[in-house]
Amino acid sequence: MIFCFSATGNSLYAAQRLAEATGDTLIDIGEALRGGKYEYDAAGDERIGFVAPTFAGTLPGAVGIFIERLRLTGAGGRYVYGVFTCGGSDGFEPAALYAMLKAKGIGFDGSYTVVMPDNYIVWSDVPPEPALGAILDGADKALDVIIEAVKAKKPGKIDERPPQMLYMPLTEVSASKGTGALFADGSCAGCGLCAENCPMGCVTVVDGRARWEGLCTMCFACLHRCPARAVQHGNDTQNKGRYVNPRVRF
Ligand SMILES: Cc1cc2nc3c(=O)[nH]c(=O)nc-3n(C[C@H](O)[C@H](O)[C@H](O)COP(=O)(O)O)c2cc1C
Repeated sequence: MIFCFSATGNSLYAAQRLAEATGDTLIDIGEALRGGKYEYDAAGDERIGFVAPTFAGTLPGAVGIFIERLRLTGAGGRYVYGVFTCGGSDGFEPAALYAMLKAKGIGFDGSYTVVMPDNYIVWSDVPPEPALGAILDGADKALDVIIEAVKAKKPGKIDERPPQMLYMPLTEVSASKGTGALFADGSCAGCGLCAENCPMGCVTVVDGRARWEGLCTMCFACLHRCPARAVQHGNDTQNKGRYVNPRVRF
C-alpha cells in the first residue's frame, strides 16, 4: 500500500508511477483525513510507502497528523519506505517520518527525494517553459531509479537525526480571528472545488463565495486548483502563475 498526500499533483504523480510499477494500492491521505479513516491492515502487502511533499523542511501537518492517528496492523517484515517531492532540497522530513514510524513500532527501510516544480508561490513563481519541462523530465529520471529500488526493496537513506519539527504546524485561517491569509477574490464563482479539494475541511462556500475557517495545512490545493484563479494568499499571489503537475491523472 502507498499512503500519499498531494495538493498539486507532484507527489500523486510519483505515487501513481510507483503504484503502476508495483501493483500496490494507493491510499489518499487527504481523503482519509476527511473521512476519519485511520485503520489499515498491511498483512496482504509486500511494501508500505509514504509519498508526500516537503513543507518548511519537514512533513506537512496533514501527513504528521495522519501518521499520529494511523492504526496499522500487519506491518511486521514489510518493506517500509518514504518518497518526498520538494521544490528545492530535502530537509528533516526523512528524519521526521523515520522518528514517527519508530514511535509506532513500525520499521523503516529508507527514503528517497525527488525535486519537482515548487508550488510555494508566496516566495517564488511557477517556472516558465522550457524550465518547467526540464524539471519534470529530471523528476521522471529520478523516479525511474527510485521505482527500481522500491521494487527490489533496496535500503534507502535513513536519517536518524532528531528532527527539529516532526511536521509543519497547522495555521489558523479563520478570517474572524484575523489571521487567515487565504481568501477568494471577486472572481470566485462559488463552484466549491476548493472545498472538495481541501484535505482539512477548512473551506466552505457561503453566499456564493469560498470562505476559510479552522486549521489549515497550507498545502495550496485550493489556491492552485481553482479554475477561476480566485484563491489568493494575502497580497503574495495576485500576479503569480498557478501550478498542477501536467503529467498526473487526478
Ligand atoms: C507550505 C509549503 C512549504 C514548502 N516548503 C518547501 C521546503 O521547505 N523545501 C522545498 O524544497 N519545497 C517546499 N515546498 C514545495 C513543495 O514541497 C513541492 O512543490 C512539492 O512537490 C509539492 O507537492 P504536491 O504537488 O504533491 O503537493 C513547499 C510547498 C508548500 C505549499
